[in-house]
Amino acid sequence: MIELHDIVVEYGNGARAVRAVDGVSLKVPPGGSLALIGPSGCGKTSLLYAIAGLLKPAVGEVTLEGKPLSGVGSRVALILQNAGLLPWKTVWQNANLSLLLAKEYPKKTATAALEEMGLLEVKDRYPTELSEGMKRRVGIARALATSPTVMLMDEPLASLDTLTKERIQDLFLTLWRKHRFSLILVTHDIEEAAFLGERIAVLSDRPARIKAVVDNPGMGELDYRGQEGFIATVSRLRSALEVGR
Ligand SMILES: Nc1ncnc2c1ncn2[C@@H]1O[C@H](COP(=O)(O)OP(=O)(O)OP(=O)(O)O)[C@@H](O)[C@H]1O
Ligand SMILES: [Mg+2]
Repeated sequence: MIELHDIVVEYGNGARAVRAVDGVSLKVPPGGSLALIGPSGCGKTSLLYAIAGLLKPAVGEVTLEGKPLSGVGSRVALILQNAGLLPWKTVWQNANLSLLLAKEYPKKTATAALEEMGLLEVKDRYPTELSEGMKRRVGIARALATSPTVMLMDEPLASLDTLTKERIQDLFLTLWRKHRFSLILVTHDIEEAAFLGERIAVLSDRPARIKAVVDNPGMGELDYRGQEGFIATVSRLRSALEVGR
């Protein structure tokens, strides 16, 4: 279980301090998925970085199975918006990076992770030789290579065309069902949140507070986008976010 206890994130000190996250408490069970959705600049990335241990919350604590979460490593993987590939390394070398950085020796290889993402044929190419969708998949392969128990994602599919985005969402759903890592996905995409989030926390304008938590028990099937449950969740998210009216 990942638990966020009353997380507050602030930048700067004293009178100049900017509060980005204001008292967020959430739980994600093992193998569960949580989407975080909220307006631009509300504090989503700040919250995710606090969960990842990349910044220390001013107040509160994040625990994994009851112990303070010690940062990104072999158990916790983080995928950033631009995939964060190193242009001077090949696809395989990029996917293998996480294994070099992980503290404990992992169970999977970069080759196996690339195969799962359908990228084995391009393993010797460089990032500039890939489509945008392929780059995002390399980013996911790199995170998968360490067999993490927790996967943190910050708008991993932002600015892709709808078709590519939905294909990668389908692939990602299949991976989540197979590997059962706990997923925390930051997104500004309502349909992505409804497709991949078992629960969806809707955040307020900055500083981010939880405005609503929407349960989405019907998710988990590839054809969910066509189902009534999906449409109902999308509509609930729209009203919680106060868009379209
Ligand atoms: N390093 C920093 N120093 C000072 N202020 C920061 C820093 N990083 C973020 N902020 C401020 O904190 C607030 C929240 O930023 P954050 O990046 O967490 O929002 P976000 O919800 O991820 O935004 P977006 O949807 O645009 O990705 C913003 O007002 C931002 O200006
Ligand atoms: Mg952000």
